[in-house]
Amino acid sequence: MSAVLSEPLAGLVARVPGFMPADEGAALHAAALGAGAGAWLEIGTYCGKSTLILADAARAVGAQLVTVDHHHGSEENQPGWEYHDTALVDPRTGRLDTLATFRRVLDDHLADVVSPVVATTQVVARWWTVPVRLLFLDGNHTEEVAQHDFQAFSAYVVPGGLLLVHDVFPDPADGGQAPWHVVQAALGSGRFEQISAYGSLRVLRAVG
Ligand SMILES: C[S@@+](CC[C@H](N)C(=O)[O-])C[C@H]1O[C@@H](n2cnc3c(N)ncnc32)[C@H](O)[C@@H]1O
Repeated sequence: MSAVLSEPLAGLVARVPGFMPADEGAALHAAALGAGAGAWLEIGTYCGKSTLILADAARAVGAQLVTVDHHHGSEENQPGWEYHDTALVDPRTGRLDTLATFRRVLDDHLADVVSPVVATTQVVARWWTVPVRLLFLDGNHTEEVAQHDFQAFSAYVVPGGLLLVHDVFPDPADGGQAPWHVVQAALGSGRFEQISAYGSLRVLRAVG
């Protein structure tokens, strides 16, 4: 896949803090365009970088995107860890808080097509019942929570719908293994087939 984002969208995405390389973002956008209208679900909003990409594709096909995050960051975003951003610490609480930054992105660019849910995926899983045409997994990368998110939400991907998994590294030298294990679980379930891969992004389709 050698897709590129439009210049205005690429510029916007580049200005938002987060964890989606430009080339993988373009691959995400191209894949999402194939998901079709309906409800889409993103796990892992952070400041809205991938949300901007998915929202643009959702708009193009007439989909609506729900994005879930508690907005306090994952383990690797906490103080002393590799991906901690001091600019995102709330001075009042001393906690990492990406919601204020995401709020501006939402108000300026996303409100017509994105419904944010500020909660843990464990809480959302208790009430979620909506069939989805697209599920993007980019939340917590611990083994336990990554598997939880896959098990909890992949059941709602309709036949022909897409499961996209980010940060998939088959070689442990390249990164954590949990998303790779999620892809293996998805393929092993017989419910999904892989249709493409770009960088650390895997695109799977739910079989009928
Ligand atoms: C890798 S980041 C998401 C990056 C984002 N997709 C982007 O494009 O920049 C993972 C996010 O998952 C969120 N997260 C971690 N554990 C979570 C949980 N149990 N429930 C909800 N969100 C969680 C973190 O707060 C963090 O914002």
